[in-house]
Amino acid sequence: MADTRSKGQDSLSEGGILSGCRIIVGVSGGIAAYKTPMLVRRLREAGAEVQAVMTANARQFVTATTLQAVSGRPVRDSLWDAAAEAAMGHIELARWADLIVIAPTTADTLSRLAAGRADDLLSTLRLASRAPVLLAPAMNNVMWDHPATRRNLRRLTEDGCTILGPDSGPQACGETGPGRMQEPEALFAAVRDCCLSIPSWGSLATPVRSTPHLDGLRGKKFLITAGPTREAIDPVRYISNESSGKQGYALASAALRVGGEVTLISGPVNIAPPVGAKTISVTTAQQMNDAVQAQLPATDIFIGVAAVADYRPAEKKDQKIKKLPGGEKGLRLLLVENPDIIAGVSSSQNRPFVVGFAAETQDALRNAREKRKRKGMDMIVVNDVANPDIGFNSEENAVAVIWHGGEEKLPQSSKAQLAEWIIDRIATCYVDQLAPANPESVAE
Ligand SMILES: Cc1cc2nc3c(=O)[nH]c(=O)nc-3n(C[C@H](O)[C@H](O)[C@H](O)COP(=O)(O)O)c2cc1C
Repeated sequence: MADTRSKGQDSLSEGGILSGCRIIVGVSGGIAAYKTPMLVRRLREAGAEVQAVMTANARQFVTATTLQAVSGRPVRDSLWDAAAEAAMGHIELARWADLIVIAPTTADTLSRLAAGRADDLLSTLRLASRAPVLLAPAMNNVMWDHPATRRNLRRLTEDGCTILGPDSGPQACGETGPGRMQEPEALFAAVRDCCLSIPSWGSLATPVRSTPHLDGLRGKKFLITAGPTREAIDPVRYISNESSGKQGYALASAALRVGGEVTLISGPVNIAPPVGAKTISVTTAQQMNDAVQAQLPATDIFIGVAAVADYRPAEKKDQKIKKLPGGEKGLRLLLVENPDIIAGVSSSQNRPFVVGFAAETQDALRNAREKRKRKGMDMIVVNDVANPDIGFNSEENAVAVIWHGGEEKLPQSSKAQLAEWIIDRIATCYVDQLAPANPESVAE
């Protein structure tokens, strides 16, 4: 296929951000395939050229007619394409693609990809292409948890594939747990961000990866907190917040992708931990603090993303609190302060490089600058949670990063994309900090 397009020229125009980007959308045989036409449609609306490629089993779940209608191209599903130039359709198609996304990726397809097989068109394309590969697994939660699936995911991550999700929740099989394919909108955001970070493509000015600095993170030990904490009032009630854990989990994935060793300390969330991270589940702020302190001696870089409750009830009642009779006076709850995890890390002996997150509803930048200094952080990432469309519990966020040498606003993007950028900024500051003679020059 001749390359006739001009990449990324009108890419910032509304609706055309992916103009000319060539994307193979692979579909394998799982229930979630009914959502794939919506992903294809979103990519087409954004200007991408989309070629749908189905496995034989995918045809049981979604029709080629639907995928053809939304992609505007006949669906491909066979290695044996007599119409292709020199009967080498798979190679042409592999060269054509800027990016391959497989949604859904079944357990079976994961296994075949992990083994490097090339026994149908989709698996052959993946092997014959140098384009980035994004996989959106979807399967029953027991299949997802199976050691064989974990092994396949680890292998595919090592091979450079990006795993999107899955989400956790009710499943088509009637069970509940991790294994639901991410929603088309979240997949679209991840595919879009990946396209924009392809060097010949990127329309965002900032390069996502600056290799010399990122190399400085290889083998470094990251300790990342994520999600909310829960502070019990009685056996059935607690104080918590809206944090979904998505930003912290995305940072854990991004740290793994630059070769970091990641320990993730997570409050209660509904998303699956990234493959390759050592995950420690906690509930309360006190438990999170204890876990952080225990891991601290082996930590090079600490990133505190968790939305830790500042206060907890002074006592947890053993029995469920009953409604007071004639209760006009209301119920008084005495709260006591929780440990400040980030300040504790900053003031520890042999402290790691410390990055904190702050959610502010007013004067975000001013408050964050002051908080960074007060808590002795090397870097703070602040998001304005007053905007209901981004931040807590949403797929996207917009943040500002403040460090001792300056500050930078990062545009609204998926949490996965922001995580890559934040890791990039951490790499730069971390490497600079290790360099001798680096006086604290505050540009605030
Ligand atoms: C009704 C039904 C639903 C299925 N849903 C899934 C699924 O969501 N995820 C999965 O990994 N496999 C699922 N399977 C099993 C796959 O279809 C099967 O493993 C098949 O070999 C996948 O082939 P492919 O990956 O080449 O498309 C399902 C099977 C049936 C009969």
